[in-house]
Amino acid sequence: MKIILSFDSKEIQGKKVAYPHRSKAIIGNWKMNKTIAETRSFVSALALSAYFCKAGLAVPFSMIPAAAEAARGTTFMIGAQNVAAYKDGPITGEISNLMLKDAGASFAIVGHSERRTLFHEDNETINRKTALLIEEGLQPLVCIGETESEHKLNKTEEVLLRQISECLEGLSSLHIAGLILAYEPIWAIGTGQAATPQKVQNVHAYCRKVIADKWGNDAAEKISILYGGSVNPGNASELLALKDVDGLLVGGASLVLETFGKILTTVKSSKDNNI
Ligand code: PGA
Repeated sequence: MKIILSFDSKEIQGKKVAYPHRSKAIIGNWKMNKTIAETRSFVSALALSAYFCKAGLAVPFSMIPAAAEAARGTTFMIGAQNVAAYKDGPITGEISNLMLKDAGASFAIVGHSERRTLFHEDNETINRKTALLIEEGLQPLVCIGETESEHKLNKTEEVLLRQISECLEGLSSLHIAGLILAYEPIWAIGTGQAATPQKVQNVHAYCRKVIADKWGNDAAEKISILYGGSVNPGNASELLALKDVDGLLVGGASLVLETFGKILTTVKSSKDNNI
C-alpha cells in the first residue's frame, strides 16, 4: 500500500507545498446539495484566497470535475463524500477510486454517520474503503462518532474504540500517521448543538490514546483528528484552539459562501498553524 501524502503536500504549478502533520484542516461537506453552476462560482470565490489552514470541500460526485477545475492551481482541495468498497467491475451505481481521481478529487470521506444509518455501512465496509483509498493514493477522511443514546449512557469511549479498531484494522503505523479521522457525535450533526469543548477535547485525547496503544506514539502524534457537528463561525475558533483538535468538518455552514469563508479564516496566521 502507498503512504498517503495528499493532505500533507500538494503540487502547485510544479512546486511542492508542504504542510506539517496536524496543521489545521477545515473541510466542508456539502452532502446532497447544489448544482454544477453553483459549485463553479462557490469554489472560484473561495479557492483563490490564501488560508492559514488546509482548506477543502467534499462535493457530490457530479460536481467534482467543475469544483476541481475551479480550484486548479490553488491549494484548495476537492474531495468526494463516499467511494466504492471495490476496485472496479460489475457494481452498478458505484464510483471507484480511479473514477474519483479521474474526476479531480484528492480525498474522500468514508463512514459518515448518514452513510452508516441510511445505507447500513458497517465498520468492515469502511475499513475496505479506507484501505482501497490508501492503495489508490487518495486521502481518506474516516468519520466516527456515537449516537445520542450511547452518549447519554456514557458509552462514547466504548463505541469509538470499536469503530477505530475495526475501521482502521490492518493499516500500518505509517498509514495511520497520514490519516484524517473525524470525530462527529451523531447527536451534534445538523442539530445546532455542537459538543462542548471539554467533551471534544476529552474524546479527541482518548482517540489519540487508542491510536498510540495500537499503532505507537509517532502515529498518534501525527494523525489528524477533526471535529464535526454543528460547527459555525461562532464556535470554530474555540474548537480549533483545543489541543487535540486538528481541524473541522463542516456540514450545513459550508453551504453558505460567507459563513464557510468566515470559518476558513478563523486560523489567522501561519504561525498559529505551523505552516
Ligand atoms: P453539520 O454536519 O455541520 O451540519 O452538523 C456535519 C457533518 O455531517 O459532517
